[in-house]
Amino acid sequence: MLIKSSARLDGSDIPASEITPRGVFERRRQLLLAAGASAAGLAFGRRAFAANEPADSAKLAATPNPKFQVTDKPTSLKDITSYNNFYEFGTDKGDPVQNAHSLQTRPWTVSVEGEVHNPKTYAIDDLLKLAPLEERTYRLRCVEGWSMVIPWTGFSLAEIIKRAQPTGNAKYVQFISLADPKQMPGLSSNILDWPYSEGLRMDEAMHPLTLLTVGLYGQVLPKQDGAPVRIIVPWKYGFKSAKSIVKIRFVEKEPPTSWNKYAPNEYGFYSNVNPQVDHPRWSQATERRIGDDGFFSPKRPTLMFNGYGDQVASLYQGMDLKKFY
Ligand code: MTE
Repeated sequence: MLIKSSARLDGSDIPASEITPRGVFERRRQLLLAAGASAAGLAFGRRAFAANEPADSAKLAATPNPKFQVTDKPTSLKDITSYNNFYEFGTDKGDPVQNAHSLQTRPWTVSVEGEVHNPKTYAIDDLLKLAPLEERTYRLRCVEGWSMVIPWTGFSLAEIIKRAQPTGNAKYVQFISLADPKQMPGLSSNILDWPYSEGLRMDEAMHPLTLLTVGLYGQVLPKQDGAPVRIIVPWKYGFKSAKSIVKIRFVEKEPPTSWNKYAPNEYGFYSNVNPQVDHPRWSQATERRIGDDGFFSPKRPTLMFNGYGDQVASLYQGMDLKKFY
């Protein structure tokens, strides 16, 4: 299609040879815009996007909470930050550390919504100030059979829930991760139904162990570990601990969750660490502690509720944990 008007603003006519087909003109314009944008991007580099982002190694002051410290030797910072599951950045354990630099953690908001009297959207830096930051060392047991020990920084999720004032209809809490294909190359694969989402029953979410997590090893949370904010539920398999969350939604019905949708017979809603209930394709009785147990050393026994039974077993009294896996 030709650009209709051939009249110049000064009133003279444009020779037919100078009239550009609209498609060509528009493609040229897009190329020019793209060139401009990437030139600007090059000029300002990633700094332009990351202007007020804390540096990866920025310190985060927190007070150790003696009530929440396991005595196992912590896993090294290197292992915690280079052996990850974060499918938004690729499916190999080494992909997140390679790719997560494209995640922009500022500006960032977390919206607290759904069945609450007091919905609110928190800017991440306000969220960090909501309650005193604590350091807590927890075991993390992945459903794949490996484990780590991680000194996290954060505060009980209950602090946010109390402020949100859930209505009587709030029976579950859903956690929704960011899903932005521009920042997350893994979204081009439809292996999971994005955004990554997880959920807890209200009493599980309110449990003091459930941590709104913003750091580890006294530093801001590295991007590959779920910056700027994730959930940690230490008595459940690691996939319940959603990374880089943007929504905390209170709902009446058990919410759909990513891994349950992917393979309902393999990943249940509860997913409590349980050495007596095997995954359909492998045993859950033992685990390999990353950094400590080599491939040829004997695996260590997995503990019921990942060793947190004293604190959480009462939540499941009377429930058949084989049925509610
Ligand atoms: N959260 C999001 N958004 N995307 C993911 O792929 N992987 C889960 C969980 N949270 C995942 C996620 C899985 S399977 C595990 S074991 C833990 O994050 C791993 O956390 P880590 O990499 O910090 O050890």
